Amino acid sequence: MHLLDKLSRNLKWWIRHKIEARVWRKRLFDVPAPQKVKWAVLDRHKIPGATWVETGTYLGDTTEFLAARAAMVCSIEPADALYQAGSRRFRNQANVRLLHGTSETIFPDLLKELRGKVCFWLDGHASGGVTFRGVLSTPIMNELQDIEASLPNFSSIVVLIDDMRCFDPSIPMYADYPPRAKVVDWAERNQMTWHIEHDIFVAKRD
Ligand SMILES: C[S@@+](CC[C@H](N)C(=O)[O-])C[C@H]1O[C@@H](n2cnc3c(N)ncnc32)[C@H](O)[C@@H]1O
Repeated sequence: MHLLDKLSRNLKWWIRHKIEARVWRKRLFDVPAPQKVKWAVLDRHKIPGATWVETGTYLGDTTEFLAARAAMVCSIEPADALYQAGSRRFRNQANVRLLHGTSETIFPDLLKELRGKVCFWLDGHASGGVTFRGVLSTPIMNELQDIEASLPNFSSIVVLIDDMRCFDPSIPMYADYPPRAKVVDWAERNQMTWHIEHDIFVAKRD
């Protein structure tokens, strides 16, 4: 990338972060937090040298953030237009692997391949607009079930799940989401420590 392109890109991000921080302050730091704060959570809990698996590439901004810090990022996106845009964005980035499909269809084969240190950013869900919507608006319980089946292959694992505020099916717009307690049960059943930070569920096992 040319120096000028790099500078204008950095300026664009700087402006975006400033605006998001100002809006967040106006919202009295309520959830959801700005992207920069979420990225800080991912960075704080990453396992050095691990492979990242992201569900829901969307525009690829977090994919790029992770790729700058990780050995390999596998990112899954079912929406055709988003997958194609992502493929163009990362065509020259050797440590980014984009996978076209839902996590329900891709996880079983992908997880069979993975060994060692793995971090998951589970963020694939219907979000309106050009984003994909499956039978359920979130595949999270499927994803957790597949991860559980692969646990013996991982030497250490971190699972980060976004949008914990939505995990309350008594709220009509989140009727497809499991209750938070189900996610906590999953973590505890698998001897993982867990906590919630800025609306992100963080589960870990060494
Ligand atoms: C909130 S966005 C992801 C944002 C992105 N991870 C980031 O951090 O910038 C959710 C994405 O998940 C995708 N999605 C929806 N259902 C999915 C599924 N079953 N499996 C994988 N991704 C899914 C949507 O198309 C959308 O692009």
